[in-house]
Amino acid sequence: MTTTGTQFDVVVIGGGPGGYATALYGAAAGLSVAIVERDKVGGTCLHRGCVPAKEFLETAAVYRTVKGSAEFGIGAADPTIDFAVSQSRKNAVVERLFRGLQGLLKGRQVTVLSGTGTLLADRRVRVSEGPDAGAEIVGRNVVLAAGSVPRTLAGLPVDGRTVVTSDEFLDLDKIPESATVIGAGAIGCEFASLLSDLGARVTLVEALDTILTGCDVEIAAVVHRSFRKRGIELHTGAQVKGFVPRSSGTGGVLHLAEGPEIDSDMVVVSVGRRARTEGLVAAGTAVAIDERGFVVADHYQRTHEPSVWAVGDVVAGTPQLAHVGFAEAIVAVHCMLGEPAIPVDYERVPWAIYCHPEVAFAGLTEEQAKTRGLDVVVKKDPFGGNSRAQIIGDTEGMVKVVAERRADGAEGRILGVHMVGPWVTEQLGAGYLAVNWEATPSEVAQFIQPHPSLSETFGETVLALTGRGLHVG
Ligand code: NAI
Repeated sequence: MTTTGTQFDVVVIGGGPGGYATALYGAAAGLSVAIVERDKVGGTCLHRGCVPAKEFLETAAVYRTVKGSAEFGIGAADPTIDFAVSQSRKNAVVERLFRGLQGLLKGRQVTVLSGTGTLLADRRVRVSEGPDAGAEIVGRNVVLAAGSVPRTLAGLPVDGRTVVTSDEFLDLDKIPESATVIGAGAIGCEFASLLSDLGARVTLVEALDTILTGCDVEIAAVVHRSFRKRGIELHTGAQVKGFVPRSSGTGGVLHLAEGPEIDSDMVVVSVGRRARTEGLVAAGTAVAIDERGFVVADHYQRTHEPSVWAVGDVVAGTPQLAHVGFAEAIVAVHCMLGEPAIPVDYERVPWAIYCHPEVAFAGLTEEQAKTRGLDVVVKKDPFGGNSRAQIIGDTEGMVKVVAERRADGAEGRILGVHMVGPWVTEQLGAGYLAVNWEATPSEVAQFIQPHPSLSETFGETVLALTGRGLHVG
């Protein structure tokens, strides 16, 4: 039991990726650290987000592979899905990672308090609503890492059965026959993809004109085409008007401002996430929360209150990605220690979206580069010509590289690398490095890609940017 008034070098509120990375990195540097966590360390990412969703996407990939096995001469006609097995496998994966994380924290003598943390004046943190409720500890530094929760829509109350967010979706043990997914961002596209692969009839509704806003438009178009080909019904530029539940108690009809009525067994709401800042900061501190409820922090993760930092999804105007939380945690710890810190370059962080086909990118899209008045040169190479892609039987997609053209006509920095296709989330590393190293195509083209490998498509695209490609003109 931690006694009231105990002082730590760092008190972290929230034990998700941003919070536990702060704790582990800080403890590795010799700081004494406490985490206040209301649920389980690991946060959304481990328990209700990245990890569970990817396990289900892997289930979808295994099913696709088995279904397509006849092409390889392997007889496995009519595979069946017992989604409850996937659910318990997911739980086992999460549990192992959870235990691993607990072990890491314990090994570094991080104190974990169970309850909800609130920042008071003078960097005191009060714990309420949990086994450690009533404790009040003090940090020389306090890190706000309370994360985010799914946004919901008025008129669509979440009941966990018919209307779900990612929180409830990831606990399903049965795939519905039909589902409507509202919002075609990363979550919506991942869920639409896996539901469709696992046999559900899927409708995807997006308010904007394209899916996967923020991705390069040509990359998003490949996903759009693939979804359509697989029978996913897409409505873009669509406004949700209302929802009428069926009298049977499950399912219902979604009404759009224009377009058909959509009847389905389940509605998945994936329209973004809001920061979890209610009750996070009491009066008496200078921490600023913006009008959308996010904590305002500068590029060194400093809030307006001295020695109070913010990392992860709770921070205003930054990508809500676990690995961004990790990177921000490292920046914050360096700053606390008075060490030089390099702020996260949010425009060049890696993005990985695990729908089928997968999407991965870093840096500027072609459109963003042009909007900034940059003269660019662009090359694309489809996976269709890649021998490994032919071997594995997954040729949909391409690599697109955007580079600067300097005033003298010579090729300049690689500005963006955009990929869609087989295992691109595992291939982005070289592209991420190229963008962040500000390398030129001729520098990167020196490096050899193994043959046959999917990564040759990136190598080819970069080689083509030097003006002379082997296969790409
Ligand atoms: P998002 O903000 O990426 O996408 C939400 C989509 O919903 C947007 O396209 C928006 O236009 C649309 N939308 C909003 N209101 C709507 C309405 N009333 N009707 C129809 N469409 C509507 O948010 P998402 O996908 O929920 O993800 C939340 C956060 O988690 C994001 O920052 C995302 O990048 C991150 N995330 C990243 C993953 C990855 O990188 N693999 C996986 C899951 C989440």
